[in-house]
Amino acid sequence: MAIRLPLVFSILCWMPVLLAAAQLTTDATLLLEIKGTLGGQSSGDNVLLSTWNASIPLCQWRGIQWIKADGTHVNCNTSLVRTNLTLYRDPSISAYSIELPAVGLEGTIPKELAKLSSLQRLYLNINMLTGPIPLELFNSLSLAVLSLGQNRLSGSIPPSLWNLCGHLVELDLDQNELVGTIPDPALPNVTCSSLQKLDFSDNHLEGSIPSFLPSFRSLQDLDLSNNSFSGTIPEALANLSLSVLNFSHNNLTGAIPNFAQNFSQDAFVGNSPALCGAPLQACGKARQIGHRPRLSPGAVAGIVIGLMAFLVVALSILIALGSSHDRKIRGEFRNEFEEEETGEGRLVLFEGGEHLTVEDVLNATGQVLGKTSYGTVYKAKLVQGGTIVLRLLKEGTLSSRELFLPAITDLGRLRHGNLVPLRAFYEGERGEKLLAYDYIPKGSLADLLHGSGRQHLSWARRQKIALGAARGLAHLHTGLETPIIHGNLKSKNVLVDEYYVAHLTDFGLAGLMSPNAAAEMMAAASLQGYKAPELQKMKKANTKTDIYSFGIFLLEILMGKRPGRNASASDEIVDLPSIVKAAVLEERTMQIFDPEILRGIRSPADDGLLHALQLAMGCCAPSPAVRPDIKEVVRQLEELRPKMHSPLYTPRTTALD
Ligand SMILES: *[C@@H]1O[C@H](CO)[C@@H](O)[C@H](O)[C@H]1NC(C)=O
Ligand SMILES: *[C@@H]1O[C@H](CO)[C@@H](O)[C@H](O)[C@H]1NC(C)=O
Ligand SMILES: *[C@@H]1O[C@H](CO)[C@@H](O)[C@H](O)[C@H]1NC(C)=O
Ligand SMILES: *[C@@H]1O[C@H](CO)[C@@H](O)[C@H](O)[C@H]1NC(C)=O
Ligand SMILES: *[C@@H]1O[C@H](CO)[C@@H](O)[C@H](O)[C@H]1NC(C)=O
Ligand SMILES: *[C@@H]1O[C@H](CO)[C@@H](O)[C@H](O)[C@H]1NC(C)=O
Ligand SMILES: *[C@@H]1O[C@H](CO)[C@@H](O)[C@H](O)[C@H]1NC(C)=O
Ligand SMILES: *[C@@H]1O[C@H](CO)[C@@H](O)[C@H](O)[C@H]1NC(C)=O
Ligand SMILES: *[C@@H]1O[C@H](CO)[C@@H](O)[C@H](O)[C@H]1NC(C)=O
Repeated sequence: MAIRLPLVFSILCWMPVLLAAAQLTTDATLLLEIKGTLGGQSSGDNVLLSTWNASIPLCQWRGIQWIKADGTHVNCNTSLVRTNLTLYRDPSISAYSIELPAVGLEGTIPKELAKLSSLQRLYLNINMLTGPIPLELFNSLSLAVLSLGQNRLSGSIPPSLWNLCGHLVELDLDQNELVGTIPDPALPNVTCSSLQKLDFSDNHLEGSIPSFLPSFRSLQDLDLSNNSFSGTIPEALANLSLSVLNFSHNNLTGAIPNFAQNFSQDAFVGNSPALCGAPLQACGKARQIGHRPRLSPGAVAGIVIGLMAFLVVALSILIALGSSHDRKIRGEFRNEFEEEETGEGRLVLFEGGEHLTVEDVLNATGQVLGKTSYGTVYKAKLVQGGTIVLRLLKEGTLSSRELFLPAITDLGRLRHGNLVPLRAFYEGERGEKLLAYDYIPKGSLADLLHGSGRQHLSWARRQKIALGAARGLAHLHTGLETPIIHGNLKSKNVLVDEYYVAHLTDFGLAGLMSPNAAAEMMAAASLQGYKAPELQKMKKANTKTDIYSFGIFLLEILMGKRPGRNASASDEIVDLPSIVKAAVLEERTMQIFDPEILRGIRSPADDGLLHALQLAMGCCAPSPAVRPDIKEVVRQLEELRPKMHSPLYTPRTTALD
């Protein structure tokens, strides 16, 4: 259905107003405010900063270069300009470069620096700056060189870092106290096409070397040394024209890619013994060490034994698994999964789970995360810090063994960044079934939107979550020879990690259920408002019914409203598409959006909100034939991503962190 654009939009053109307000401050007055923060306690004593003073001509402010509105530099060589005191009040003069290396700066980096809209180079390296890097800086409009090395900066690197990609040439964050991983870009296919130097060395960063790095085609200088990076070095890095490379003193494993540049050993020393290949020792023996250990039967047994102390789980499973542990079953490694038939049941192990050992999990503690009509979900905490999720399916919920075993094996093979991986499957002799998944910390989107874990979710974050969920679904529908139907897509089954990446869970089970269990699940989906209308007549979910559920999910994201039965008020069923239809007809479309996502955006049309609404309604079309397919949904969601925000207009919001 087409959505008419109401007149309301003309009212929503906030921009001119905000522009006028922004022009009241020149860069020079802004810098005077920033000066106090930069110098910390002793800003008054800092000789260099003391030159930043309205009674001193701009040209004599140390460490700053100025640029005129036409893009030419202010020529401070002529004495007329050099002594001009009124330049200070000229709004067309802005700061182009700030170079304050090694001048004893203290305190935190002032976020107001991001308001310097023409700032291209910022050097604050070799000082004593503390605290996190302000997010605002990553939405800076022109920053090409950001040099913050050799300070005491802490915190993690937010994904919004890559918002700078359009203009970033050099990024130095070395010798700080940064933690966490190198984040994935918030936007798809970021290539950072002008980035030449990336230095993250001497921090406490961990996780893998991101697979998107090789897409930064201009990269010449890459230093990740002296952190705790693990995993393998992406092979595609060998395709870049790197002149400097340093991966030394991390915890990397696997084969070193075949770099034509013949980097010396120095670039790789101090990693795991399982890092191998030229210029280190040849792979072979060392490769074995790096080979992924699988989740062993003992490990799964251990998990369940650990749970026993805290949970009342079906006793039969415990006994079955406990005894298989006693026998120390060790299956052979097969290519993709491991399977062990014991007297008592069957254990199928899939790729991954290398962080688990028997000792780790023996004392794991458990906690019920949720219950559904077909089973219970537990969070199992491992002593050494790891956590996994166990889904115990009620007896008799799955259809016959012959049908589901191959299907479960297919599910266990699925690996995609937006799908929660299935690590193991256990079937007891009486048909009890246990699925082991990775644990995703932040919780489900339902929690974030409506639950106790409720938090502010900007449109940019929501768009990212929607796009992630769509990509996960696209992998199920189109990434394999035969499509896998999710069958139970809803906000509760979309888990969100700390970077707001969506991970679908609970997929592919609907089709495997016994008729009774499937009917119960369908009834629940109907109450929750995600069930496609045609499912009243036909019983089997398909890709089109998944798209319908996705449409409801997208409406839920846009409206911030829980679909389906409203527990608080009179058991009324909230049908989101009907609400939208009514609102559009009455020309009050704007009112249906969650007020929280309207905050900080320029206009709903510019920022893709209306497009998203249209897409969601298309997915919820009553006739399955006119619903878009998932590839089209992904394409449109990629297209409608919010425009990058200028910190000038909305200094307090960060567009994409
Ligand atoms: C600027 O310089 C003048 C004259 O040297 C001084 O009196 C004044 O305190 C300075 N202002 C600031 C904000 O430092
Ligand atoms: C100003 O003078 C310096 C040294 O004399 C010179 O290097 C620089 O290019 C001059 N700048 C401009 C903008 O003419
Ligand atoms: C000083 O700068 C102002 C603002 O750019 C300009 O209008 C004025 O003509 C300049 N004065 C001299 C003496 O160059
Ligand atoms: C991102 O890259 C993938 C794979 O290279 C491609 O299929 C997709 O169309 C790209 N998306 C955008 C928005 O360019
Ligand atoms: C690694 O970094 C730490 C600080 O994070 C530093 O003390 C140490 O000297 C560095 N090691 C090497 C080999 O550079
Ligand atoms: C690589 O990094 C380590 C640790 O940061 C440093 O000690 C070493 O000098 C670097 N080597 C090269 C070739 O840059
Ligand atoms: C490296 O580049 C070549 C040619 O451009 C391409 O065929 C190859 O797939 C690339 N390798 C990787 C690992 O991306
Ligand atoms: C390196 O990784 C291994 C497992 O992959 C882990 O046991 C070890 O503690 C790690 N070492 C460091 C220094 O992080
Ligand atoms: C790297 O080593 C190979 C084999 O030793 C040699 O053929 C090649 O020319 C070397 N490349 C560079 C850039 O030195």
